Amino acid sequence: MTSRTLPMSVPARGLPPRVRIHEVGARDGLQNEKTVVPTAVKAEFIHRLAASGLATIEATSFVHPKWVPQLADAEDLFPRLADLDGVALPVLVPNERGLERALALGARRIAVFGSATETFAARNLNRGVAESLTMFEPVVARAKADGVHVRGYLSMCFGDPWEGPVPVRQVVRVAKALMDLGCDELSLGDTIGVATPGHVRDLLLALNEAGVPTDTIGVHFHDTYGQALSNTLAALQHGVTTVDASAGGLGGCPYAKSATGNLATEDLVWMLDGLGIETGVDLDVLTATSVWLAEQLGRPSPSRTVRALSEQPAPSHKE
Ligand code: HMG
Ligand code: MG
Repeated sequence: MTSRTLPMSVPARGLPPRVRIHEVGARDGLQNEKTVVPTAVKAEFIHRLAASGLATIEATSFVHPKWVPQLADAEDLFPRLADLDGVALPVLVPNERGLERALALGARRIAVFGSATETFAARNLNRGVAESLTMFEPVVARAKADGVHVRGYLSMCFGDPWEGPVPVRQVVRVAKALMDLGCDELSLGDTIGVATPGHVRDLLLALNEAGVPTDTIGVHFHDTYGQALSNTLAALQHGVTTVDASAGGLGGCPYAKSATGNLATEDLVWMLDGLGIETGVDLDVLTATSVWLAEQLGRPSPSRTVRALSEQPAPSHKE
């Protein structure tokens, strides 16, 4: 007889047995906070996330400190994570200067971040789509030569607040160019949360047809319109096994108006636990972490699961 947190596990057909959660709360979440979170709080947050069982935790960004002041302490933070053996700690790197900073601290996983639209590329990276790819080229080449794992984020894969709906073929073209640089993994960003499940499926099919295999694709949904979990399920049904999520549903993007929080990791784990899909994450430990962080930030977590589990004692039942 064991006691465990609900939900009851009822597997569904045609879904992967295991999902790798790429936790982005410490980067995508905290980059969007109005105040700068103290470095010690960030370090404790990441240690607590690791203790919950998350094995891939995006730690910070080596971007220009004036562009994202919230993450300007990357040099101070990253060494504080050195004891996290066995936890992958990717960092965002836009250019060669960022790569030098990351490599100097021993980072072994980086992410470049492109855009499917010109407007967001200009706002986020101060250059157009083609110029961004040119900026990434030496970054990816040098990282790969050093044996560093490279993720290629692609933002605005479904819609853009300035340009409107983004055609699938436009996304595929930039995604393919990003992968052709040598990225190991592609993360499809629904930066403003406008995707719906059929659209997700269409994009995944189009990417496959263009030669980008499903096992190199991760999904990165924001929950602006409450679609993040439905979109995730559509991606899982297609065979995707890497899902980005943010503890407590923190997040947004400082350079994209109307971007709200990411898919909350707790909401994701609740669904995956219910589907019997292994994640390695302890939902109670993770929820306690988000409750703790919400206290540090002075406001409640937007995650429905965090709110439900923290307003009531963890339910248990006999098996
Ligand atoms: P720029 O102004 O064009 O840079 O910014 P530059 O190359 O012209 O250099 C200007 C100065 O900045 C130089 O210094 C450089 O050394 C310095 P100076 O010679 O004048 O003294 N510099 C740097 N310093 C520190 N670290 C660096 C760095 N690079 C240049 N890495 C740049 C271009 C890309 C740097 C800037 O636009 C930038 O930092 N952008 C980052 C924006 C960002 O982080 N956005 C959020 C992440 S993306 C996101 O959240 C979406 C995602 O979650 C997926 C989704 O949801 O869609 C990933
Ligand atoms: Mg994001």
